[in-house]
Amino acid sequence: MYIPSQYRYKDMEYNRCGRSGLLLPAISLGLWHNFGGVDDFHTARMMVRTAFDYGITHFDLANNYGPPPGSAEINFGRILNLDFRQHRDEIVVSTKAGYWMWDGPYGDWGSRKYLLASLDQSLRRLQLDYVDIFYHHRPDPKTPLEETMAALADSVKAGKALYVGISNYPPEQTERACDILQSFGVPLLIHQPKYNMFERWVESELLTTLHKRGIGCIAFSPLAQGLLTEKYLHGIPQNSRAAKPHGFLHKSEITMEKLLKIQKLNDFAASRGQSLAQMALAWVLRRTEVTSVLIGASQPVQILDAVRCLKNRQFSNDELMEIDAILSNG
Ligand SMILES: NC(=O)c1ccc[n+]([C@@H]2O[C@H](COP(=O)([O-])OP(=O)(O)OC[C@H]3O[C@@H](n4cnc5c(N)ncnc54)[C@H](OP(=O)(O)O)[C@@H]3O)[C@@H](O)[C@H]2O)c1
Repeated sequence: MYIPSQYRYKDMEYNRCGRSGLLLPAISLGLWHNFGGVDDFHTARMMVRTAFDYGITHFDLANNYGPPPGSAEINFGRILNLDFRQHRDEIVVSTKAGYWMWDGPYGDWGSRKYLLASLDQSLRRLQLDYVDIFYHHRPDPKTPLEETMAALADSVKAGKALYVGISNYPPEQTERACDILQSFGVPLLIHQPKYNMFERWVESELLTTLHKRGIGCIAFSPLAQGLLTEKYLHGIPQNSRAAKPHGFLHKSEITMEKLLKIQKLNDFAASRGQSLAQMALAWVLRRTEVTSVLIGASQPVQILDAVRCLKNRQFSNDELMEIDAILSNG
């Protein structure tokens, strides 16, 4: 039987999500990779336990996480049932719809038909009555935004989600989504964009928009899928995401130019007394608009590495300039 650590709330930071009442842990765990039907269930279960033991109260899913699609929700539902039945009210579960999930015209993008059916399916797989956050996973250029946002708002009114969010939306559409949701009396809680040292598109406008509108921000792939660790410095290890046929990190993305930067960043992190993963997470969290960094993991030890980033989160201006110089020049 699993008894969570009694010290689990001691060291984690909890940040207010935009102008809402919801606090999220500075580090959240995503179940995109390593929690599917092809993965080891015991390791997945141990990762969820480790996360919770260290104060990670937020777990992020989507309808299509696996493989096969849907299996991460099934596995997480099993883990919740086995280990966390007494702790549902200590946990924030999110799921999403927006990418391909089933065949035919109603299993993809942003229609009301797709979103509401998908949420019902997710709840069945998760064995939950409601999720805490329901997201639209990506903008749909062909469906009126009003329809997609009405579906999100209705998921809240039906009691199937407590809050709603959007992911991968550009700034202008984010503002419109926020206005439309407001007109339905449902605030836009959170935006989930990709943000890491190698991908900084959010810095030009999105973060300012989120701050202005009181929307929280949870940054996904803060380690660039594992690139911002020392893992790939000496080749592609077996069992790494880049080595797996179903992994979304492609070998072609691990270029010599990136590896040179990673080596320098790794040395710089060591001079700060932390691992590169810890520095990369602290660097994303330096932006006050960021509520939480959404990490992935394949082993419990990676979660332990991540939570230690909170021990050294400060950067001097000189350090930030040094990191910028490495990222721009190599
Ligand atoms: N909204 C969206 O469109 C979207 C898209 C992508 C992701 N997400 C969300 O964001 C979450 C995180 O994404 P991500 O998995 O790409 O995040 P990430 O934190 O950038 O990468 C996680 C991977 O990095 C490696 N890693 C982590 N800690 C490590 C350490 N200490 N040392 C060495 N390697 C380490 C592991 O890879 P190995 O498996 O190689 O060990 C791990 O699976 C997802 O689970 C999902 O919830 C959302």
